Amino acid sequence: MTVRSSFVVVANRLPVDEVSTPEGRQWRRSPGGLVTALHPVLAEHQGTWVGWAGGTGAAPEPFDLEGIRLHPVPLSAEELERYYEGQSNATIWPLYHDAVETPAYKRRWREAYRLVNARFAEAAADVAAEGATVWVQDYQLQLVPAMLRELRPDLRIGFFLHIPFPPIELFMQMPFRTEILRGLLGADLVGFQQRLAAQNFVRLARHLLGLRYEGQMIQVDGRQVKAGAFPISIDTQEMERMAADPAIQARAKQIRAELGDPKTIILGVDRLDYTKGIELRLKAFRELLADGKLTVPDAVMVQVATPSRERVEHYQALRVKVEREVGRINGEFGRVGVPAVHYLHQSYSRSELAAMYVAADVMMVTPLRDGMNLVAKEYVASRADQGGALVLSEFAGAATELRQAFLCNPHDPDAVKDALLRAVHVEKTEARRRMRTMQRHLRTHDVGHWAKSFLSELGVPEAEAA
Ligand code: ADP
Ligand code: F6P
Repeated sequence: MTVRSSFVVVANRLPVDEVSTPEGRQWRRSPGGLVTALHPVLAEHQGTWVGWAGGTGAAPEPFDLEGIRLHPVPLSAEELERYYEGQSNATIWPLYHDAVETPAYKRRWREAYRLVNARFAEAAADVAAEGATVWVQDYQLQLVPAMLRELRPDLRIGFFLHIPFPPIELFMQMPFRTEILRGLLGADLVGFQQRLAAQNFVRLARHLLGLRYEGQMIQVDGRQVKAGAFPISIDTQEMERMAADPAIQARAKQIRAELGDPKTIILGVDRLDYTKGIELRLKAFRELLADGKLTVPDAVMVQVATPSRERVEHYQALRVKVEREVGRINGEFGRVGVPAVHYLHQSYSRSELAAMYVAADVMMVTPLRDGMNLVAKEYVASRADQGGALVLSEFAGAATELRQAFLCNPHDPDAVKDALLRAVHVEKTEARRRMRTMQRHLRTHDVGHWAKSFLSELGVPEAEAA
């Protein structure tokens, strides 16, 4: 029998991983801020999370885990290729990130996107109780709000876009642009990371559909749709607690020792994605070594490049370019047993990442465009010692809040080099002052604050009280 919930989250992925244990295959809650933030609201409302469980073919039956009902949606191998790798990650992802790679447009991808979005909408309609609140997440599911409203006009529907929303000129490239915009306008509240993104959206509604708006309220078919900025964040307390753990502190010291106790450890942690500016960061490091402004082994770089979307062409090309650059730097500036760049194409546990953050003197976050960038926030929260320095691209959403970082324009190689050098040589007291201010901000603006602000704007009364 289908369990009906008064609060439903719909996201491309379910917040679980399937792991092998001595007792067989089991589901485990995946780490991550989103599920942590939404867990109390889900638990309170006997909530359901609708999403893809990974893999292809038939989906597992709905099941409960730690007080949340999980409702898997199946994807066929062809849908995985067309809806997820194609339309979501080779069309919408590059287009919404300033087209830093050329978006590809294919009719069969769009059709699969429609079909899969309809499946998610139907699943949400099935599990939502009368008058329930449904919160749809991200760019993979932009048609769901309108599809769901059509099926269930009684629902209160929210949508949050985790990635940037492009200016009109870029959005207009999209072949089924009206359908996407109409899809989003099916929600009562459409949330973005940035104020500018929300403005792009309301202006687009007027430009493309001739809709009237006042402030951030759009009039659509006799309804009102509100747009707004709700910058997402991290579980700050949890990050602070983990980083202060003596075992993590000890592991951080060990990492430093394993790297040869250099004066300066420069760290990058990103999915291997062309939006993240990994190549330009490596190039800045190489040029500073060539200029003699940095030297090995006094300075070493550690670049964690998490495997991501590996069957998408742009990602395969990026991997070749990044690995060629790492090879070039190590060839020119490394010695036997002393590489200049430690390149790690792997996933890590949250605790190992925390130890890396604690060990790093300079964190480089240099995306060409990024909706938010949680790594930047995690690094700041992990520095209980108020040591370390953050180099941050102006094109990351996080730059709106973390103003005390060493901000730079990633399109300007000299600006990146300059910011990196300033971060390497910053006075301790100055570095502490910067960290302290950013940490104070993150304590009040954590992921719980994000979820509450969105849900109370959507009119979920419990969110206001929580
Ligand atoms: P995006 O959502 O584009 O991947 P973010 O920086 O916003 O970028 O979020 C990335 C999240 O993934 C962070 O919480 C970070 O700690 C985590 N992460 C990144 N790389 C790894 C890795 N190699 N192993 C484990 N977690 C990772
Ligand atoms: O930031 C956008 C996002 O899609 C997140 O929702 C997700 O955690 C991350 O990128 C990884 O993407 P994917 O689900 O494609 O592996």
